[in-house]
Amino acid sequence: MSYPYQIKSFEAYKEAYQKSIQDPESFWGEIASHFTWRKKWDKVLEWNFTEPRVEWFKGGKLNITENCLDRHLETKSNHPAIIWEPNAPDENNRVLTYRKLHEKVCQFAHVLKNNGVKKGDRVCIYMGMIPELAIAVLACARIGAIHSVVFGGFSAQSIADRLEDAQATFIVTCDGAYRGAKDIPLKSVIDDALIGNKTIKRVIVATRTRTPVSMIKGRDVWWEDEMKQVEEKGVTFIEAEEMDAEDPLFILYTSGSTGKPKGVVHSVGGYMVYTNYTFVNVFQYQTGQVHFCTADIGWITGHSYIVYGPLSAGATSLLFEGVPTWPDAGRFWDIVDKYCVNILYTAPTAIRSLMGFGLGPLQGKNLSSLKVLGTVGEPINEEAWHWYDEHVGKRKCPIVDTWWQTETGGCLISNLAGITPAKPGWATLPMPGLEMVLVDENGKEVIQQGDETISGNLCIKSPWPSILRTTYGDHERCRTNYFATYENMYFTGDGALKDKDGFFRITGRVDDVLNVSGHRIGTAEVENAINMHAGVVESAVVGYPHDIKGQGIYAYIIYQGSHAQDTHGTGDLVRRDILQTVTRIIGAIAKPDKIQFVSGLPKTRSGKIMRRILRKIAEGETENLGDTSTLLDPGVVDEIKKGRL
Ligand code: WTA
Repeated sequence: MSYPYQIKSFEAYKEAYQKSIQDPESFWGEIASHFTWRKKWDKVLEWNFTEPRVEWFKGGKLNITENCLDRHLETKSNHPAIIWEPNAPDENNRVLTYRKLHEKVCQFAHVLKNNGVKKGDRVCIYMGMIPELAIAVLACARIGAIHSVVFGGFSAQSIADRLEDAQATFIVTCDGAYRGAKDIPLKSVIDDALIGNKTIKRVIVATRTRTPVSMIKGRDVWWEDEMKQVEEKGVTFIEAEEMDAEDPLFILYTSGSTGKPKGVVHSVGGYMVYTNYTFVNVFQYQTGQVHFCTADIGWITGHSYIVYGPLSAGATSLLFEGVPTWPDAGRFWDIVDKYCVNILYTAPTAIRSLMGFGLGPLQGKNLSSLKVLGTVGEPINEEAWHWYDEHVGKRKCPIVDTWWQTETGGCLISNLAGITPAKPGWATLPMPGLEMVLVDENGKEVIQQGDETISGNLCIKSPWPSILRTTYGDHERCRTNYFATYENMYFTGDGALKDKDGFFRITGRVDDVLNVSGHRIGTAEVENAINMHAGVVESAVVGYPHDIKGQGIYAYIIYQGSHAQDTHGTGDLVRRDILQTVTRIIGAIAKPDKIQFVSGLPKTRSGKIMRRILRKIAEGETENLGDTSTLLDPGVVDEIKKGRL
C-alpha cells in the first residue's frame, strides 16, 4: 500500500500546511478520497464553535472496518495485522493476519448480534491487552455499535459510573488479566459494578487467566462458547453496517477539572481519516514495518495508534499484554529484538522508569531494526529525551514528540520523523490543518514580535477531522468545557511556549487536571474519593514534580475520625485506609503519593481553597508563596509548611 499523502520533505510539509489552512476542504477531501467509501460525502466540512457543531464528510457513507480490514484482503491477506506478545515471555505469541483478523471480527460481530447488540447500542469493553480486545472493538464498529473501552485498572465504581452515563446495555470482559506479576480479576470487578445495575442485558466473558468467575444465568455468556456456535456454522463474514460519516464510533471517558469523567465522542469518518493521516506522516510508516505502541487500548493512544491508525494503513501493529519492567527491565528491548520492531511509541514515564535501571537491561539486545521512536502523554524532560536518543535509538532514529489529547483523536503537534526538525522537549510544529494560537487570560491572542518566544494558553481556531463532537449525553458540558473559555476557539487546557521558528513546547495543564505517569486525573475526582472516607472532613489535592511519574499526587486532608491516632500516632493506618478508599472509588492509578494531615486549608474569605499556595508548598517552594493577605486564616499556611512531607 502506498500513501500518496505521505509528506516526504520539510518543503512538502510547509506546502501541505499552507494548503490545508487556505483550503481545508480540498486538502482533506483529497486525503479522504484514498479511503473506501460506500457513498462519497456531499460536503467536506461544516462547522461553528459556538454550538459547537462540527461535521466532516457530511453525507458520506462508510464503515471504518472495511477500511481497516476488507480493503487490505486483496494484497495483504497473509500479512500480519496484529502481533500479540503475551505477558509471560515463555508463553506462545499469536499472529493474526489480515485475513484471520477479518474473520475473527466478522465472527464476533455475529456473536454481538446474536446477543442482541444493535447499531447505536453502547458496549462497554473492559479487558486486558489480548487480541480479543481489538477484535471486540472492531466487531462493534463493524455493526455500528458504539464501543466504550474502560481501562482495566479502573474500579467497579468507576465502571458503574461510566455504564450509567453511557446507558450501556452490553459488556465484553475477560475472566482476568495478566499484568506483570499481577493477575487482575476483571470479571469480579464487573460483577461488583453491576450490583444494582438495571440496563446491562448481557456480559460476554473471554477466557484468559482461568481465575474462577461467577457466571449469572441469563446474563453472562462465555466468549468461546458464543464464537464456537458461529464457527461451527462455517460463518466467516458479516456485511458491514453502512454508517454515516458523522455517526459516533466510540465514547472514551477522560478526566476534566470538574466533576466526573466525561464521555468524549468521536465519529467515524473524520476520526478514520485523521488517525490514518497522522500515523502515516508522524511515524513515516513504510509498508511491512512493525509498529509497537506500548499504550493500553483503554486509552486514546491505544485506540488511535494500536488499532485504527495502523490497521487502516495496512500496518503490522504489535500488541503487548505486559509491563516494561516484568520479568525484568529489559522487556521492551527483548520485544524489539524478537520482532524486529521498526517504530517504538511510548511514554516519557516509561523511559524515565527504565533509565532508573541503567544500561544493563539493554546489553545484548539487538535494537538495530528501530527506525523511529515516539513519545506521548506528557512533556518529556531533556534527560529522558537524550537517553532515549542515545541508548535506544543509537542516535540514528528520529524521536517524534507527539502532543495531543483524548479529545483531539490524533496527534496535533509533532515533528514528522526524519522529515521536519526535532528539538528535545519540544513537540515542534502543528500538523497540517491545525491553526494553533496562544492566548492570554483575557482571551487575547499573544502576537509574536520579532524573534521572541511567547507563552500562553494553547487554543485552536478551526476544526480538524478528529475533533471531539460532543460529550456523551451532555452537549452543553462539551461547549462549556472546551468552547466557552475563549470565544470561537477550542481550548486545550494546556499552556505552551512558541519560539521564533514557530515550534511549540507544551508546559503542562493550566487547569486542575493532573498528569500522573501520562494518565489524566482530575484533582476534583481524587478529592471526591478521599472525602468519601469516613472521618475525612475536607481535602485538597494538587500535583507536584515526580522524578518518574512526571507528576505525583499530593493530598492535604483534614481528618477527624477516631483512627487518626494509631499506635504510633503517625496516621499511617489512616493513610493506608484512605488509599484503599481511593482505589475502591477510582482505581489504583489515582492513589495519592503523599498525604499530609492538616487542621485547616488556606481559604479566601469567600471560602475558595487557594490551590496556588498548596501547589507551591507541595513543590517545595515554601519561601515564595506570593500574596497571602486575602486568606481567612494566614496562620494555617505556616502549619502546613511545617508539616510538609
Ligand atoms: C498531555 C494523551 C506534553 C497534555 C494522548 C494533554 C503532553 C494531556 C503530550 C492529554 C506531549 C500529551 N507533551 N504534554 N507530547 N502529549 N500531553 O487525554 O497535558 O490522556 O492535555 O491524551 O496529556 O492526555 P490524554
